[in-house]
Amino acid sequence: MGEILEIDNLTKSFDGNVILNNISFKLKKGEVVVVLGPSGCGKSTFLRCINGLETIDSGEIRLDDARIDNNKAELPRIRQRIGMVFQSYDLFPHKNVLDNITLAPVKVQKRNKKEAEEEALLLLDRVGLRNKAKSYERQLSGGQKQRVAIVRSLIMHPEILLFDEVTAALDPEMVREVLEVILELAKEGKTMLIVTHEMEFARAVADRIIFMESGNIIEESTPKEFFSNPKTERAKAFINTFHYDAK
Ligand SMILES: Nc1ncnc2c1ncn2[C@@H]1O[C@H](COP(=O)(O)OP(=O)(O)O)[C@@H](O)[C@H]1O
Ligand SMILES: [Mg+2]
Repeated sequence: MGEILEIDNLTKSFDGNVILNNISFKLKKGEVVVVLGPSGCGKSTFLRCINGLETIDSGEIRLDDARIDNNKAELPRIRQRIGMVFQSYDLFPHKNVLDNITLAPVKVQKRNKKEAEEEALLLLDRVGLRNKAKSYERQLSGGQKQRVAIVRSLIMHPEILLFDEVTAALDPEMVREVLEVILELAKEGKTMLIVTHEMEFARAVADRIIFMESGNIIEESTPKEFFSNPKTERAKAFINTFHYDAK
């Protein structure tokens, strides 16, 4: 299968500081890539550039044949082809779960409300939340809200899903219920780029790991290679921060 996303020599700075330094990257259809790296290395900025949420200084970002950067006119349409889930869920508090999910397909994609609701219910069923369709945000746990946020993304039928530390704010027992959903999506063959600090999950879900430091991709390998035999000292040190020696 061919590349669905191609990034050539992406550079992005904020206030004169280079945050992404000449990054090139390709993602194949059906591939799951996990982005690892210390806080502040540019992971979120990288995802935000891919989703057209940031202007870039130079380089090119292409989704299939569509240019994402420098394409203001087409951006709203292209962005519908990319799903992004963040740490915060941003559900509308005065709308129930079903209405939150069907809002964009009906308003933006002009889909039939009944049909969108039917799909929403199927998707909710798949993430174990069919019985929460009529609930409001305040009645849901963090893990449930995040699963709703994933469904809200899925119903748009994105070609790529971007996840930015979606479990970082969750209690440990809720982390798993969200990560299981993402693992299922991976098994279905969804194309995904995932930023996470959950190392066991990264190892299980990824076809490929990229490791970033200071705005550069400094390592790129299979999860097996990356975790058992990291090439750089920096990656070795990073992996070690997740280990504790018994006393
Ligand atoms: N809107 C912004 N304005 C200025 N600096 C920013 C902005 N967004 C991110 N940065 C800076 O860019 C760097 C990378 O941030 P980020 O992409 O959030 O890193 P990560 O997600 O890896 O923790 C940080 O130094 C951060 O302070
Ligand atoms: Mg981040």
